[in-house]
Amino acid sequence: MADKSQILAMPEISLGPEVRGMPVLGFGTAADPPVDAETTKQAALQAIELGYRHFDAAALYNSEQPLGEAIIEAINRGLIKSREELFITSKLWCSDAYAPDVVPAIRKTLQKLKMDYIDLYLIHWPVSSKRGIYEYPIKKEDFRPLDFQAVWAAMEECQGLGLTKAIGVSNFSSKKLADALYTANIPPAVNQVEVNPCWQQKKLIKFCKDNGVVVVAYAPLGAVGTFYGTNRVMESEVLKEIAEARGKTVAQNKELAGFSAMGFGARHWGGCQKLQQGQDAAQP
Ligand SMILES: NC(=O)c1ccc[n+]([C@@H]2O[C@H](COP(=O)([O-])OP(=O)(O)OC[C@H]3O[C@@H](n4cnc5c(N)ncnc54)[C@H](OP(=O)(O)O)[C@@H]3O)[C@@H](O)[C@H]2O)c1
Repeated sequence: MADKSQILAMPEISLGPEVRGMPVLGFGTAADPPVDAETTKQAALQAIELGYRHFDAAALYNSEQPLGEAIIEAINRGLIKSREELFITSKLWCSDAYAPDVVPAIRKTLQKLKMDYIDLYLIHWPVSSKRGIYEYPIKKEDFRPLDFQAVWAAMEECQGLGLTKAIGVSNFSSKKLADALYTANIPPAVNQVEVNPCWQQKKLIKFCKDNGVVVVAYAPLGAVGTFYGTNRVMESEVLKEIAEARGKTVAQNKELAGFSAMGFGARHWGGCQKLQQGQDAAQP
């Protein structure tokens, strides 16, 4: 078991008075190539043991069920007292991004997570896709226009019903976010987007900051090793020099773990295994 004295206090970001503070560093649950449910469960359990309290899931990732099981086991083992100690994000997949499908989709998510509520529910991408298909990348012929106003109203209903404490978006550009802010009754609390030293998104981050939308950074290591990622972050000579000067690894650079003051570094399973092996210091 992790030595509790080595677990650092994790700063939290407020998404509003009704929402548990969001720990700035979270644990991602997407795996590419995909892993089996037991691997996901064990990784999440290890992450809780190491002190992670913020988990990033999605209907697309097939991680909700094993994450829910890991949380129950963590409670049974006494690693945490209750689910309230955690901040759980999940996401509406594009094939459910139709107004009548949103509440049923979050109920399915909650059923898999074995929870009454999640802390944050996001529209995963600003598009809809053919109903019934959960796959990424989406085939060209499966794209459908997103009726944002109607889908967002259903997201607001999810929050009103207490199924999620906060709602937000993911992969929204400044333009799309501006349109969203114009029509929303409840403004998106979060925009989860890719942010790392090779993709700094300065304009978008400024727009979000000016409009009170918290940016959550995904792929802080550049998603190295995934089909959508790049090795430019982990192989950056500048980051290697900074790491060397500090006696750290590239992944331990603060610039990656907390790249944006408003962001967090969601992690891949490999990150957890590397934490266990003492190779990584982006520790909570
Ligand atoms: N909203 C969205 O559309 C969206 C999109 C992508 C991701 N996300 C979220 O963000 C999370 C993280 O993003 P990501 O997995 O794409 O990218 P990432 O965290 O930048 O990169 C993960 C990759 O980094 C490697 N890695 C992890 N720790 C390392 C270490 N200490 N040293 C060297 N390499 C290390 C892993 O390698 P190994 O192969 O060795 O494990 C893994 O392949 C996901 O799990 C998901 O929750 C959201």
